[in-house]
Amino acid sequence: LESGPERPLLARRLVIVTGKGGTGKTSVAAALAWLGAERGLRVLVAEMGPDEHVPRLLEPGATPVGYAGRELRPGLRAMRIDPYSAISEYLTLQVGGRALIDRVLRYKPFRQLLDAAPGWRELITLGKLWHLEQMKQASGRPLYDLLVVDAPATGHGITFLDVPRVVVSAVRAGPLHRHSTWVEAMITDAAHTVVLPVALAEELPARETSELVTRLREQVGVDVDRVVVNAVMPAPFGAGFERLDETLARLDPELRLPGLPAPRVLAACAGHLRSRFELNRRYVEEIGNRTGLPVVPLPYLAGGVGGPEDLAVLARHLEAHEPARAA
Ligand SMILES: Nc1ncnc2c1ncn2[C@@H]1O[C@H](COP(=O)(O)OP(=O)(O)OP(=O)(O)O)[C@@H](O)[C@H]1O
Ligand SMILES: [Mg+2]
Repeated sequence: LESGPERPLLARRLVIVTGKGGTGKTSVAAALAWLGAERGLRVLVAEMGPDEHVPRLLEPGATPVGYAGRELRPGLRAMRIDPYSAISEYLTLQVGGRALIDRVLRYKPFRQLLDAAPGWRELITLGKLWHLEQMKQASGRPLYDLLVVDAPATGHGITFLDVPRVVVSAVRAGPLHRHSTWVEAMITDAAHTVVLPVALAEELPARETSELVTRLREQVGVDVDRVVVNAVMPAPFGAGFERLDETLARLDPELRLPGLPAPRVLAACAGHLRSRFELNRRYVEEIGNRTGLPVVPLPYLAGGVGGPEDLAVLARHLEAHEPARAA
């Protein structure tokens, strides 16, 4: 029997959901945020990238929440971290003069200069997360118990999380060094921060996910304690009918079933479903073996993930793999 993760996701302050494009990062981030809020935590789910997908999952018909964010359910706030808004906010705090800074940021040659600079988006975004994580209520309690980040798809090149470490070693002093050090400390504190990779049960992801996990742990120094394998096909025939195709193949080939094709055709259909299911299950296992991490399988939902009811289903499965909370 393989052992599960040791620390609950919901006991961290920052959960960064990542993975290849289209694996279900946004759905998983929204489901985890949902679960946290349901458990009474004050949750902020922060989406990155140019479009907003989270709000409509949490609240049907929701209008965009933008950089300012909005509370969509009790204790559950969503926002989109746009790096230009974040840098404008940062520079306003550091230098002052919002109107002037916004004008400079809109100035095309400056934007081109900025866009050519590597890593600033990552750094400014992580800096904003650090700032959100530090925010306190009047009582001194943190403003958010849990920050869930829907991180950009992992592609080639440097990972989103590696920028602070690189900056800390490249820039020896000054505010950039100082701020990057804070961000790096937040990322590499395992009691605080965990990365949650999301993969699909297919051949390539098995290999890519193990490479991602190794890089995150060894290069970035961030904790990864489980892998979500999303859209896993459920057993197709129910208990007691695991080998339905074989049962069908044993039927008299001449048998006429009212309104149904010949037993041979039914057996072929069932055989196809079973092999799809078994292949899917084998890749789930392989992802576990290759990464050496506990796997959290989430079911394939025939209608996709479109709203709160679907999030609730995914949340139940995420919850089932949470270790009991330490007393
Ligand atoms: N468990 C699931 N069962 C069925 N469909 C799913 C499941 N999870 C996600 N989907 C669907 O797959 C598509 C991609 O999901 P999602 O947007 O969450 O992925 P993503 O990794 O955030 O994608 P992107 O890289 O484009 O941001 C969506 O249409 C979503 O509804
Ligand atoms: Mg997404």
